[in-house]
Amino acid sequence: MSDWQVPLSAVRLTEADIEAAVDVYRSGWLSMGPRTQDLESAFAAYTGSGHVLAVSSCTAGLHLAMSGAGLGPGDEAVVPSITFVASANAVAYTGARPVFAEIAAVDRPWLSAETAERAITPDTKAIVAVSYGGHPGEIEELRRLADERGLALIEDAAHGAGSWLGDGHLGTFGLAGAISFSAGKNLGIGEGGVLLTDDDELAEHARLMRWHGVTRSTWERHRGGTETYGVSKLGFNYRIDDPRAAIGRSRLRRLDEDNHRRAAIASVYREELGELDGISPLAAPPDSARVSNSIFAVILDEGVDRDAFRDSLTQSRIQTSVHFTPVHRFELYADSGVELPVADAFAARTVSLPMFAEMEEGQQAQVIEAIRNALVS
Ligand SMILES: Cc1ncc(COP(=O)(O)O)c(C=O)c1O
Repeated sequence: MSDWQVPLSAVRLTEADIEAAVDVYRSGWLSMGPRTQDLESAFAAYTGSGHVLAVSSCTAGLHLAMSGAGLGPGDEAVVPSITFVASANAVAYTGARPVFAEIAAVDRPWLSAETAERAITPDTKAIVAVSYGGHPGEIEELRRLADERGLALIEDAAHGAGSWLGDGHLGTFGLAGAISFSAGKNLGIGEGGVLLTDDDELAEHARLMRWHGVTRSTWERHRGGTETYGVSKLGFNYRIDDPRAAIGRSRLRRLDEDNHRRAAIASVYREELGELDGISPLAAPPDSARVSNSIFAVILDEGVDRDAFRDSLTQSRIQTSVHFTPVHRFELYADSGVELPVADAFAARTVSLPMFAEMEEGQQAQVIEAIRNALVS
């Protein structure tokens, strides 16, 4: 598929995943229907979330969460600058303003309760917690802060499929959370995601808005034998379709196993790289967490030339990436006017290494050897 000897991530569908999709194509029902309902029930059982809505993307799920939380013009939501732009866009779609906040530390690229609190103003209505690579960060402290200040906590758990802190699945700590199924994620199906919430009103709002405010789905009408429906709100088309839902359902069956394998890879990286000068892994999750390791990022010491480091790995046909460019640095959000030196320092020094469940031991050894060579040259 590519010239990389070790790609950053890889989507490997099993025969069972492919069969699940083929079955849907054979069934003659392709749009959001019974397979989507299966996926939602399975995800609700897995995460313990009261409501699960499958959607066309995590971004769509986040937008539904923001609008369900009542965000609108004049409101603000605190968002860490180290994230994918979707976390901020989902706020901006409602007319509210994302206020970019600092990360906890250069090896902790997530909001801390302290950094979030500093960004709160009288207009703040929500805090958006982003799970970096499936790490819970300070989610419990953020929940406490949001509760104390009467704010909605929305979790961008795009990376969080199968990530737990204690017995809480990421995405279930606040008012609502969304998980991504886009191809590079640890539960990748192409495009898609789920919205999780225990809030009945928010779930009802999201169900309507996912489909143009239409009061009865095509599948319900098909089963009920009626063609009528009402439209009560200006909604969107944020539907998933049944073939992708079936692949998601199939992948969910081996999510824990995949994440277990990713955790083993992460632990080898931590051990081997921990001994090298010039590079450090990010802060490890607490013992009470099980994380997806959707991304495995490191920090280079100040003074290590990141471009040269990455070029050297590219020469060995090992793919790397950077997660993320600080969102407040993009032209779209340049007028935010904030200075976030820790986020900038992180973004200048981080590198994401290959991470996928099927990575072979030999491939990981190649990555580590290439890193060793890059750091001495
Ligand atoms: C932190 C974060 N939030 C949101 C998203 C958006 O997910 P999706 O592509 O499913 O909309 C991504 C995807 O890369 C992400 O990394």
